[in-house]
Amino acid sequence: MANLSLAARFSLGGRVILITGGGRGIGMALSKTCLDAGATVVVTDVLPQPDPVFLDWQKKTPNQLHYYCCDLTDKEEVERTFTSILEKFHHIHGVVTAAGVCIDKPFLKHEWEDIRRLQAVNETGTFFAVQNAVKNMKQHGIKGSVVMICSQSAQHVCPGHLLTAYAGSKGFVFSMARSLAHELAPDGIRVNTISPGYIATDMNLSLASLRPELLKIFNEAPPFGRVGTPQDVELAALYLLSDASSYVTGQDLAIDGGMQVSSGNYKL
Ligand SMILES: NC(=O)c1ccc[n+]([C@@H]2O[C@H](COP(=O)([O-])OP(=O)(O)OC[C@H]3O[C@@H](n4cnc5c(N)ncnc54)[C@H](O)[C@@H]3O)[C@@H](O)[C@H]2O)c1
Repeated sequence: MANLSLAARFSLGGRVILITGGGRGIGMALSKTCLDAGATVVVTDVLPQPDPVFLDWQKKTPNQLHYYCCDLTDKEEVERTFTSILEKFHHIHGVVTAAGVCIDKPFLKHEWEDIRRLQAVNETGTFFAVQNAVKNMKQHGIKGSVVMICSQSAQHVCPGHLLTAYAGSKGFVFSMARSLAHELAPDGIRVNTISPGYIATDMNLSLASLRPELLKIFNEAPPFGRVGTPQDVELAALYLLSDASSYVTGQDLAIDGGMQVSSGNYKL
């Protein structure tokens, strides 16, 4: 490792990286980074078609960037999709779980269906995507990397935002990653999380379309004084997926413009 160039240590050449929820937003941005780092990138998402930008990238690299429509809350669909992916690509060297949903609501307004949906996508969907990928890594003795997109809300309150249930679902991701990192360490499989702060994606913009005052929080609450972009998250994922982080497991990397070190009770 010491003799390898910097580029080689960050390279994903010859590797298959699977990204859930990569049809748009943060997952889509990460798919381009992995592509640029030389990986074969397999994206799954519930969207029938990915973002047009993704389709443009795919036209330029048809053999390197692949899309599978798959609802992570549907057990049979997940099993079918992983079977097709593995028939075609055989191995998974890295997995990123970016699929997720967010609900911004007062605690007392949450319905059973809200909680079921958060759990189905953010918890169960994440769990079994990782399980399918790790099963393949273990079968082939691959010292792979698991990167789970968590959230700042798993570790601290986001004042003004009403994320009690969402925060709980990301708490599941945060805790699961730590236990799994320990369980998989003997196999050389690393498990880490990324906790984004406020990132300008469809998820946050659709919440703000219902409560426009959220835009003020996204832009002003981070100590850096701006909302984050999916590009702010990209290289953190590359670091965790590549050999550059080969001695790192069970860690969380916050990409949040300083939210984690700020405190107080931000008022609108
Ligand atoms: N945007 C932020 O500020 C922010 C902050 C912290 C964490 N996150 C997390 O980052 C991840 C990516 O979110 P984003 O901001 O890019 O939002 P996004 O809505 O653009 O992306 C989420 C993706 O998940 C997919 N998805 C939703 N339900 C699915 C299902 N049942 N099966 C398969 N795919 C499904 C969506 O179609 C979408 O493409 C999410 O896990 C989110 O919770 C986002």
